[in-house]
Amino acid sequence: MDVMLVLILVPMLVVIGNFICVCFYIRKKWKMMMKKKRMRRDAEAAINGGDSLDPTVNNLQQLNHESSSSVIGQNLFTYEDLSRATSDFSDSNLIGQGGFGYVHRGVLVDGTEVAIKQLKVGSGQGEREFQAEIQTISRVHHRHLVSLFGYCRIDSLRLLVYEFVPNKTLEFHLHEKGRPVLEWTKRMKIALGAAKGLSYLHEYCYPKTIHRDVKAANILIDHSYEAKLADFGLARTYLDTDTHVSTRVMGTFGYLAPEYASSGKLTDKSDVFSFGVVLLELITGRRPIHNSQPFADGGSIVDWARPLMIQALNGGSVDGLVDPQLEYDFDISEMKRMVACAAACVRHSAKHRPKMSQIVRAFEGNISIHDLTEGSAPRLEEIQEIGI
Ligand SMILES: Nc1ncnc2c1ncn2[C@@H]1O[C@H](COP(=O)(O)OP(=O)(O)O)[C@@H](O)[C@H]1O
Ligand SMILES: [Mg+2]
Repeated sequence: MDVMLVLILVPMLVVIGNFICVCFYIRKKWKMMMKKKRMRRDAEAAINGGDSLDPTVNNLQQLNHESSSSVIGQNLFTYEDLSRATSDFSDSNLIGQGGFGYVHRGVLVDGTEVAIKQLKVGSGQGEREFQAEIQTISRVHHRHLVSLFGYCRIDSLRLLVYEFVPNKTLEFHLHEKGRPVLEWTKRMKIALGAAKGLSYLHEYCYPKTIHRDVKAANILIDHSYEAKLADFGLARTYLDTDTHVSTRVMGTFGYLAPEYASSGKLTDKSDVFSFGVVLLELITGRRPIHNSQPFADGGSIVDWARPLMIQALNGGSVDGLVDPQLEYDFDISEMKRMVACAAACVRHSAKHRPKMSQIVRAFEGNISIHDLTEGSAPRLEEIQEIGI
């Protein structure tokens, strides 16, 4: 009798126990689902309900929902605010036309000047860019990184609202036809500013960020020639534990690090390489790729400049390298410093490239050229060894 009771009771208890566990599990899942749904609804309401917001930047309502959508937590603008600010996105206010859409200058009702980037509609890439810019740029606050004031997202339209940086880009000042020559002191100032911005992204903000599109056209300049790094549409975050991030190769031809271009292996050192290319532009006045001024063997600015940099760093002259338009109007020790930084940044081996904070210190004169190049300036044999 007792045995019978046990034989019946035990399986019953097991079944009841399992049933209770399943109920708890379903209840928990249901609660989580409802919470997610509620958060998504709040997010949508926040995004689409911008019409009621005060249109001035200072009074904009800050939305700090717990984020189910990564765009929450930024200032919202209505399309009408932005249309008014740009005279209906008129051509006279068009200041840029990049790979991902149009940029207009605008003035908000409180007089704040802004730059408004309208991402191309309908592409998945556009949406990814939008998310990446908001995620990255709203976390980072630095004098040498362009600030994001907010955004507008309505139907398929995606607009980003930035502080306005009034004096165009480094590309414009260096390469646009008919421009006065960009003075050496300004080149130094721009290089240092951009290096500080990038160093902050790589080493001091959390999570650390790789810009992925460092180039002269993405370095904005203000009236006192302070540089501000812009265009975070391709930016990727990474953790200290990541050795690299694998990704589809994006960025701009002529600036891509070799290991990234060939295998999509992305690290902060990919940005360091691109920054080295920018330094080469500042030193030589040449574009990284130029149809009317091709480099020997159809190679890149890096291949062309490498032997000249080595010669300069081993006590030779900088003549063949330096922008002739400068007409020798530069400080030679500063020039050598920049050449040493460029040479170190464009090293073939990513792990031998310096960190951006080392570049900053080198520009500020707090680290010797020898420390930057690990005790010795690169020699020609080294280059041949790595098969360049
Ligand atoms: N904050 C800004 N202030 C002034 N001009 C800007 C600003 N942001 C972008 N621009 C102009 O618009 C151009 C394209 O912007 P960018 O953010 O680089 O977009 P894209 O992804 O299309 O390259 C820039 O090269 C610059 O001329
Ligand atoms: Mg750009």
